[in-house]
Amino acid sequence: MVLIDEVAALRRRVAAWRRSGERIALVPTMGNLHTGHLTLVREARRLADRTSVSIFVNPLQFGPGEDYGAYPRTLDRDRELLEAEGTDLLFAPVVQVVYPRGQETQTRVEVPELSDLLCGASRPGHFVGVATVVCKLFNMAQPDVAVFGEKDFQQLLVIRRMVEDLCLPVQVRGLATVREPDGLAMSSRNGYLTAEERERAPALYRALCAAAARLRADMAAGEVERKGAQELAANGLRADYFSVRRASDLRPVTPQDRDLVVLAAAYLGKARLIDNLRIALNT
Ligand code: PAJ
Repeated sequence: MVLIDEVAALRRRVAAWRRSGERIALVPTMGNLHTGHLTLVREARRLADRTSVSIFVNPLQFGPGEDYGAYPRTLDRDRELLEAEGTDLLFAPVVQVVYPRGQETQTRVEVPELSDLLCGASRPGHFVGVATVVCKLFNMAQPDVAVFGEKDFQQLLVIRRMVEDLCLPVQVRGLATVREPDGLAMSSRNGYLTAEERERAPALYRALCAAAARLRADMAAGEVERKGAQELAANGLRADYFSVRRASDLRPVTPQDRDLVVLAAAYLGKARLIDNLRIALNT
């Protein structure tokens, strides 16, 4: 595996692959890799001849007072894990390489509406930061296909919309959430939990599963949301939102909608946990 930290070197390597007609996949990450990330890498290898992974803790997507400084950075271990997965290239730039003129004057990519709901409402500017860095990474690494997790469902929709709206020549692949045996979605932020909080954290996934059962039993979305938030509170999680939405565009559901997603974000100790569950109702 080759480790690259500059754009010119990345372009040279990718151009050589392109010349020999190889199909290239990219898995963008912020590092501190877990099995969820590695599952994306395995899928990337299946989809392409060459697999690139990026590790970049993107300051543009963190708000003031969020965990940019504390975000776990474990490059040496990540490198070993990626090497063992057969990754061809790791792109791990420093901030100055991605934002050479600074963040304030950086041209930004904004996906309207989708970016302002749910996580976007609690984290203003977050999805502009995500869309901007992913657009830059696509332009730098020039993948044919890029692989993302459905764990960040809203992020996946924002990226798909950006790719469509800007006609980016990249195929976007979404993969199912990888969970711990007790249901907790794997996340770099789970490391912020104390042992006692870690015991309570699976309540988030349990509440989503209960919501799915209630929707299938025809309970109204508003009632499902109220009960979900109550269940989180009963387990000591402070709900940011617990919301039933249309899977296609995250708008509020109407009785005609069949393809739904329940999304939740909750604070537990130092961590802000997010998770979601897709629900196809019978027609
Ligand atoms: P990060 O949180 O490191 O996640 C990188 C990718 O791994 C994302 O596509 C995310 O959805 C996926 N992922 C994380 N946990 C997962 C799990 N338990 N199961 C399946 N996939 C999982 O998301 C980001 O980084 C950043 O916002 C990024 C897209 C890299 C832009 O900076």
